[in-house]
Amino acid sequence: MIFHYKVGFLGVGNLAQAIIKGLIENKTLPPSHIFAANRSPGKLQKVADTYGIQAMATNEDVINACDVVILAMKPQDLAAAIDPISSAFSDGQIVISLAAGFNLRSLEKRLPHCRIARLMPNTPSLISRGVLGYVVADDEDKALPTVVEDLFTPLGYVLGVDDEDQFEALMISCSSGTGFVFELMTYWQDWIEERGFDPAVARKMTVETFLGAAMLASQSKDIPLEDLQNKVSSKKGITAAGLQSMRELETERTLRISFEKAALRNQELAKEN
Ligand SMILES: NC(=O)c1ccc[n+]([C@@H]2O[C@H](COP(=O)([O-])OP(=O)(O)OC[C@H]3O[C@@H](n4cnc5c(N)ncnc54)[C@H](OP(=O)(O)O)[C@@H]3O)[C@@H](O)[C@H]2O)c1
Repeated sequence: MIFHYKVGFLGVGNLAQAIIKGLIENKTLPPSHIFAANRSPGKLQKVADTYGIQAMATNEDVINACDVVILAMKPQDLAAAIDPISSAFSDGQIVISLAAGFNLRSLEKRLPHCRIARLMPNTPSLISRGVLGYVVADDEDKALPTVVEDLFTPLGYVLGVDDEDQFEALMISCSSGTGFVFELMTYWQDWIEERGFDPAVARKMTVETFLGAAMLASQSKDIPLEDLQNKVSSKKGITAAGLQSMRELETERTLRISFEKAALRNQELAKEN
């Protein structure tokens, strides 16, 4: 159990607030064990007032007060935030970075004496339906995965991966992937609206279709997705005509190229950092 841990956030933006909310609502940690600092003090005070967490004057104060430090600033702010205060981190202190495009090697170079993990949540974590992937820097550190899983399980499905290649695949399919799914949902809603439906109704039809398909797949764990699809489609039928067109137009290729482009951008960002 990590209930006794003190957890600190450097940055209290959108994602940190979602995590803080999850930790408190799910009673993973009491507000008295959550500490935070933020570049703009106004935002920090608001978050502290909302959740009753401990607002600290500086990042160093958070590091000194906590067992686990979560780096929750944007990747472009990370180096400037931690480089001048790297000596404030104690030997063996747990550091969990949320920054996309900032790899373990860069983090270990900066904080060689810390136990480091990267975690990538997606936005459904806001409603405890996230997919949260993590990777730890030291394979031999058997206790760190438990800490990460205890902390983040309230936000959804937490999955440890073996290396940063898998971490990238998870980030693209689940975090960027959430954006790709919304792109498809937008096309769905547009088509329905063009057939005369009210936008709110078209949105609901779209959302319920995606939700229903996802829930059916979730509740039919032993049935391959292809078999679930076959149940909607009969030879020379209506669905089959649409599916054939999706295949002729190479929807799979479009999606694969989108995944690869996202992966390339991730690699570019990692080089910049
Ligand atoms: N949002 C997502 O869906 C998502 C998903 C996966 C991963 N991530 C990762 O999560 C991280 C945070 O994303 P976000 O969407 O929460 O960003 P955000 O809303 O912009 O929050 C970042 C916060 O960090 C603060 N900050 C910047 N520099 C700081 C410093 N030196 N010391 C202390 N605080 C500092 C900012 O303060 P100000 O108030 O001054 O701006 C801001 O409140 C990013 O690294 C991102 O890659 C986000």
